[in-house]
Amino acid sequence: MLVCSCNYITDKEIVSTINELLDEDCWQLIVPAKVYHAMAKRGRCCGCFPTVVDLIIQTTEAYHANRRSEDEKVVDFMERLRRFHEEQRAAIQERRQRMAKTA
Ligand code: FES
Repeated sequence: MLVCSCNYITDKEIVSTINELLDEDCWQLIVPAKVYHAMAKRGRCCGCFPTVVDLIIQTTEAYHANRRSEDEKVVDFMERLRRFHEEQRAAIQERRQRMAKTA
């Protein structure tokens, strides 16, 4: 499925990159810009970022489930990851609304 129409990036490419980043450090905070940077791409309209955030959360959860990471540590990490991405999602939405008003 095409996720980013500006850069022609599919969900499989994004998930693969997220897994590579998690292999480097499974406790790092992954944001859409980090994923795109690892792919030598960059967000243009950033309309795909909410979907990338969902893929980051799903992929990170699956990554830890498959590796049977320490349950308590994973629950805490996923909670912080979700909270962080909710804040990011709200900031992206606010920025897009602001841009739409000025256009
Ligand atoms: S759709 Fe991904 S940057 Fe525009």
